[in-house]
Amino acid sequence: PAPGWSIAADVVVVGSGVAGLTAALRCEAAGLRTVVVTKARLDDGSTRWAQGGVAAALGEGDTPEQHLDDTLVAGAGLCDEEAVRLLVTEGPDAVRRLIETGARFDESAEGDLELTREGGHHRRRIAHAGGDATGAEISRALVEAVRAIGRGEREALSGKDGGGRRAGLRTVENALVLDLLTDAEGHTAGVTLHVMGEGQHDGVGAVHAPAVVLATGGMGQVFSATTNPSVSTGDGVALALRAGAEVSDLEFVQFHPTVLFLGRDAEGQQPLVSEAVRGEGAHLVDADGVRFMLGRHELAELAPRDIVAKGILRRMQERDAEHMYLDARHFGADMWEHRFPTILAACRAHGIDPVTEPIPVAPAAHYASGGVRTDSHGRTTVPGLYACGEVACTGVHGANRLASNSLLEGLVYAERIAADIAARGLHARVPQPLPHPETPEHPLQPAEARFTIQRIMTLGAGVLRSEESLAKASERLQQLHTDARDALAENGKTSEPGVDTWEATNLLCVARVLVAAARLREETRGCHWREDRPERDDTSWQRHIVVTLNPDRS
Ligand code: SIN
Repeated sequence: PAPGWSIAADVVVVGSGVAGLTAALRCEAAGLRTVVVTKARLDDGSTRWAQGGVAAALGEGDTPEQHLDDTLVAGAGLCDEEAVRLLVTEGPDAVRRLIETGARFDESAEGDLELTREGGHHRRRIAHAGGDATGAEISRALVEAVRAIGRGEREALSGKDGGGRRAGLRTVENALVLDLLTDAEGHTAGVTLHVMGEGQHDGVGAVHAPAVVLATGGMGQVFSATTNPSVSTGDGVALALRAGAEVSDLEFVQFHPTVLFLGRDAEGQQPLVSEAVRGEGAHLVDADGVRFMLGRHELAELAPRDIVAKGILRRMQERDAEHMYLDARHFGADMWEHRFPTILAACRAHGIDPVTEPIPVAPAAHYASGGVRTDSHGRTTVPGLYACGEVACTGVHGANRLASNSLLEGLVYAERIAADIAARGLHARVPQPLPHPETPEHPLQPAEARFTIQRIMTLGAGVLRSEESLAKASERLQQLHTDARDALAENGKTSEPGVDTWEATNLLCVARVLVAAARLREETRGCHWREDRPERDDTSWQRHIVVTLNPDRS
């Protein structure tokens, strides 16, 4: 449908986690008229669920070079070293600027930042807030900073300012991004949106801007059990694919080793038990209390997370068990209450008291190491389209992200993007009319398809994969696509457009690409574990799988 309303801006930022709001604040500070659009509320993304913290070489004796070394080891040969170097050298100042913006990190009695350890880090270098509520504090500080200068959704949609005043920062909540607008030369000209506010169920509109920053977060909801909130449905990657941008490394889905086990049929967002709990000395044990990570890696429970996740799964297979245990009874009640209040509350809410009993844990989908391919300025392969945060593939994570590098990446690359947009002085573009968003190549999926996709992906493309499991998943995903395409051809329409149907459509789009990439990569590397190809193959696979859809959107 043609947009019913439009807003003009210099930059539109899609998403409101650490990456989106940092990009928006820095763009506005650089004098750019900035609009933030976000699918739910400003603080509803993944950022506020982050527990462990932000990794940066801030401690005495630590250096960016050591942080670089740990990141490269975790990335299993596929990190872009220059991208990592930018991350670790610009990281400490980016964290200091976040503190200036208002985020309050935990400090020692002497006023120094308290730093913890997590898997793959050889040093204490993770800054945290509220004990284990780092993301919530970062989100609070950034949302507050944005609200202080923003004038809110109502005023933006009423178009009262005519788009001509000084730089400002407006927010549009409950706005699902649909597609990228481009001009006759293929340059970015804005985005179309479906706003689902009160009484606005047909609110399809557009923000016209020569720069679009995708900061839509991840795609954990492509699996049944995940640490990601329900909004993490791969919308940015799906949009980028439909717009013809390159997407890379989608096969590298990171499974967090220690997620509270709530039963084998648990679905949706699951409570995380931060790596920082292991960083402070918790042990992984089996039902007999045996520490099975000892002897598997020099760092034992603090090995990179793919190794710990595999260690847990191997032990589960050996013992025919549904989960393992994290034992931190020795912390005592005081430490639990002071250092890990969020996790303590989540466990107790599910009838488990970590002060007196080991916590049942199992791996669950956590982070997309791949995404929309960018250069060191966050530019994608479509002119004027940028990406940062989990939706992006900047090259810093390689085949497996190092713990707590994601909030840092969001900060550093959002700042680089704002600087690039400000320096380039992009001019307004005249958008081409957009074809109807529902095409035979992207027919709308019914809302219930979400659960079918999640089950297909969990069975076929989860932590353990093989050509057989992936081929089955591919076939079943293809069937969902064919059914919707046939319904469109027969009836001229499929499902009612809305957040749930668009989310299911985006999930199917990213799931199909993920499975195709996982089938292609015939080796085991980082968080991509092929049971039928258990070895890493540097001769054939020291390279990236880059995907684009054809310009005709097929
Ligand atoms: C955690 O707290 O374990 C999560 C950290 C991360 O995913 O980087």
